[in-house]
This record gives sequence, structure tokens and C-alpha cells, in this order.
Amino acid sequence: MAIQWFPGHMTRARRQIQEKLKLIDVVIELLDARIPLSSRNPMIDEILQGKPRLIVLNKADLADPEVTAQWQRYFEQDGLRTLPIDANSGYQVNQIIPRCKELWADKIEAQLRKGINPRAIRALIVGIPNVGKSTLINRLAGKRIAAVGDKPGVTKAQQWIKVGEEMQLLDTPGILWPKFEDQNVGFRLAATGAIKEEILHVDDIALFALRYLIEHYGDAMKERFGLSQLPPDGTDTDEVVKVMEEIGRKRGALLGGGRVDYEKAALTILRELRAGKLGRISFEAPESVAAKL
Ligand code: G4P
Repeated sequence: MAIQWFPGHMTRARRQIQEKLKLIDVVIELLDARIPLSSRNPMIDEILQGKPRLIVLNKADLADPEVTAQWQRYFEQDGLRTLPIDANSGYQVNQIIPRCKELWADKIEAQLRKGINPRAIRALIVGIPNVGKSTLINRLAGKRIAAVGDKPGVTKAQQWIKVGEEMQLLDTPGILWPKFEDQNVGFRLAATGAIKEEILHVDDIALFALRYLIEHYGDAMKERFGLSQLPPDGTDTDEVVKVMEEIGRKRGALLGGGRVDYEKAALTILRELRAGKLGRISFEAPESVAAKL
């Protein structure tokens, strides 16, 4: 397996985030609503050292709303507050400030008791690459902020972005890395587009996605790809390959002699899936996590 934990990156990212924690009141932990656990850094509790935190489930427009609600209950059982959003369209983004104020309510009250005008809450967005950090920062800022966060070796002075009167946001997010201990985590990240095809082979990613879709979203599959039937068991690789072949034929992904171009078929499936063409799909649910534990 070519992908791994990137220990060097992680140590550096952790140090950088811990430096920023000194400056801020509240952390906005951005997760992908379709894969909240796989897009989460498992050391996050240790890294954040008890800072008040809001879990924001981004790309909720692409996730299965029922499963997103299950995830909200899952995190809230652990005493964590959650908010599903869509940073692209701005859906629920205006709820971020009120939720952060709730987290900071005791401090605000204490300041008011002392007759001090509460200052703006200082916040930091953290999350793995591609989860939507820059999109959210730009949306909160109401303009495009240069995205330098992901470029190694680029340093610049920290700037505060004013988000209305009540919040200030650090302009560079904290970048976390997912942990690929479980190979399925890598596949979920790849299926949703969080990691690119160079890391895992596109055919394998598409097969993983198809298996999952056959098992959990059969009707959406049939409808999108015009399939009359699906194999009863998505775990049989030969059967899943046949489904990929059929989709390839329907989409015209062919080589000479009418043979299916698997790579092209796989890319088509992934592109349509990631663009939400199969409907709103989540790639992990709290139930499956509980089953594993
Ligand atoms: P990052 O800073 O955390 O690395 O992520 P960034 O904001 O660059 O967002 C990564 C991709 O995710 C972008 O797509 C962005 O438009 C998309 N995105 C962000 N938030 C949402 C959301 O709430 N819903 C949906 N559907 N998409 C969202 P991109 O520029 O097309 O990049 P890519 O998909 O080609 O990687």
C-alpha cells in the first residue's frame, strides 16, 4: 500500500496548529460530511488540548441527510457541537458565529459582568486537505483570501479576517492529515476526491465505490446508470467488475474491438459520484463504526 501516515507532515502540522492555538478562542474543525471519521485526524483531541470546538460537517449538499443526522447525534453524545454546512453555496454558514458564541458564552458573560465590552471571538479553521477550508474562509470573509496554506515552505504573517463585528478568523487554516491505518479509510478519501488518483489506482477506487453503492444505494445506481439489476452481493469482485463493464459500455468507454476501457469507465463513475450525480451519498455511517468496534 503506497499511502501512509506522513509522520513528518503530521509533526510539523501539529506544531504549527499548537502555535496558533495560543492566539485563538475557538476551533472550527472541518470534516467531510460524507466521511466524518475518515476525514478526521485521530489525534485531534490531543492536538487541540481542550480548546472549545465546533465540528462543522462540510459538503453536506453531497452527503445523505439521514446519515448526516446520525453523525450529529454521534458527536453530540460525546459532548461535541456540530453544524452541517455547504461552504460552496453558503448553506448554514451564517450559523457558525452564533454556534461559536455559544461555545464562548461563559467568557462573554464574565466580560459583561466586569463591564467590559466582549471582544470578537478569535477562531481557527482546521481540517485535512480538500475538505473545503479555503472555500469556507473565503465565504466567511466575503472575498477571496490568497490560499497559501497548503504550499510547503510558504510563510507569511498571520492575518486576522474580520467576520462581521463578532468574529475574527485566522487567514491560514490549520492543516491536518488523515490517518490511513485502515485501507478503507484511504479508499473513502479517494472515492470522495479528498486524495487524488495517483495514490490509489483509479480502477480500485471505482470498484470500492461500486461495492459500497451496490450495498447501500442500489436504487440510485440503477437509476443513474440505467441498470436493470444489480448483483445481490456487492462483495463478489467478479460481479462488481461486470457492473463496471456494463456502465462503461453505456457511457461509451470503449477501446478498439468493443472492449471496455476500464480506466475511463472508472473515472466516469468517480466523476459522476463526486459531482453528486447519483444523489446524496455518504460513505460511512456511525452504525458501521459501532459494528467494527
Ligand atoms: P481546502 O482548502 O481544505 O484544501 O479545500 P478547498 O476549499 O480548496 O475545497 C476543495 C474542493 O471542495 C473545491 O472544489 C471546492 O469547491 C469544493 N467544496 C468546498 N466546500 C464544498 C461544499 O460545501 N460542497 C461541495 N459540493 N463542494 C465543496 P474544486 O475547486 O473543484 O477542487 P477539486 O474538487 O477539483 O479538488
